[in-house]
Amino acid sequence: MKVDVLLGLQWGDEGKGKIVDVLTPQYDLIARFQGGPNAGHTLEFDGQKYVLNTIPSGIFNKKTLNLIGNGVVIDPIILKRELDNLKKNGFDPVAEGKLVIARRAHLILPTHQLLDAASETNMGTGKIGSTLKGIGPTYMDKTGRNGIRVGDTTLPDFKERYQKLVDKHKNILSHYGEIPDYSEREQAFFEAIDYLKTIPHVDSDQLVNNYLKEGKSVLAEGAQGTLLDIDFGSYPFVTSSNTTTAGACTGLGVAPKNIGEVIGIFKAYCTRVGGGPFPTELENEVGEKLRQIGHEFGATTGRSRRTGWIDLPALRYAIQLNGVTELIMTKADVLSGFEEINVCTHYIYNGEKIDYMPYDIISLKPEPVFETVKGWNEDITGITSEEQIPFALKDYIVYLETHLGVKIKYLSVGPDRTQTLLLK
Ligand code: GTP
Repeated sequence: MKVDVLLGLQWGDEGKGKIVDVLTPQYDLIARFQGGPNAGHTLEFDGQKYVLNTIPSGIFNKKTLNLIGNGVVIDPIILKRELDNLKKNGFDPVAEGKLVIARRAHLILPTHQLLDAASETNMGTGKIGSTLKGIGPTYMDKTGRNGIRVGDTTLPDFKERYQKLVDKHKNILSHYGEIPDYSEREQAFFEAIDYLKTIPHVDSDQLVNNYLKEGKSVLAEGAQGTLLDIDFGSYPFVTSSNTTTAGACTGLGVAPKNIGEVIGIFKAYCTRVGGGPFPTELENEVGEKLRQIGHEFGATTGRSRRTGWIDLPALRYAIQLNGVTELIMTKADVLSGFEEINVCTHYIYNGEKIDYMPYDIISLKPEPVFETVKGWNEDITGITSEEQIPFALKDYIVYLETHLGVKIKYLSVGPDRTQTLLLK
């Protein structure tokens, strides 16, 4: 057996949560491999809507185990809140033995959030668009070899380790001005740590590899999107982890040879939240129409998302970086009613025609070149078979497959589980 990987090919919010939930019955283990509670995976079924920040999106399936992998950074307070919310709705994954956490996952401390806020406030116009959840500073402590991991919470000197890191943070914070009072948050942190200890801690590499040896199926779940990858995204307007397939290897402890299918998710158009370059952005009424129809407002932050036409050079780049073997297109329903749809086929960059995302798209902006394809008018949110897909949408699918060189396996036509079509 091999680990299948599911990840976003754009700037995040492609609808990964919904799709993982749809695919979960096919898997024995769903394993989140990177990111923190800045992710807002939204799932809808039976008329209910759930937003998951840290918990893998396979949590609603009775038979699947869910793992928060070592590549994830965990805010214990948010994780506890997520689990409490699930409990209120009749799901108790901890009691049911359906959730485990990697010992090597790093913890977000209350002072990481203070550092995040202090740093972003001082960025002036160069703000990265941080969600201020302390994720960046936690990854910095991880690579700086200062971090505190889930496994440390059970060590006798945990409190001293905690205090040592907090003292370091306070030292840095004092340079920014007065340190805000965080005593309430600290109390909540330690309460949540006690709760965290009741969730089984595992070595994610052992768990995942043992599953494979036993012939069990594993799906690695990504957060954010490829164009936000710390190495290959539009740096510095990126997230703090590797959102690409390589991140699944390091974020769970899987060898590259044990990666199976790579499922890449993209929206039928493009969105981006926060600052940073966005070549196909529509800063006009068409962009506003996409935002309104697509409800392009952050699930966790409520921030309004920037919108634009689909960007094939960016998608080709993402497909290559990840080794995508299957595509899933979401939010096709949002394009219903657009008479014409624009597709960016390549960029003019530095006077040359290119079909990938270059190193610098900030100081030297790529100029998108568009082709126009026919839109469709039909409401597709209720369609249940491939035969019901409007001709113009079928043509759009074939057009994209031809230009991207990978088949679109599923088409999502609405936020609910049931609004998903398998394409032959
Ligand atoms: P991040 O990891 O934070 O990037 O999240 P994500 O990729 O899981 O996406 P998120 O849930 O933030 O955003 C997708 C939004 O679109 C959610 O509100 C979903 O319910 C919704 N959604 C997913 N698929 C579709 C679809 O096909 N059509 C429509 N209209 N909405 C969809």
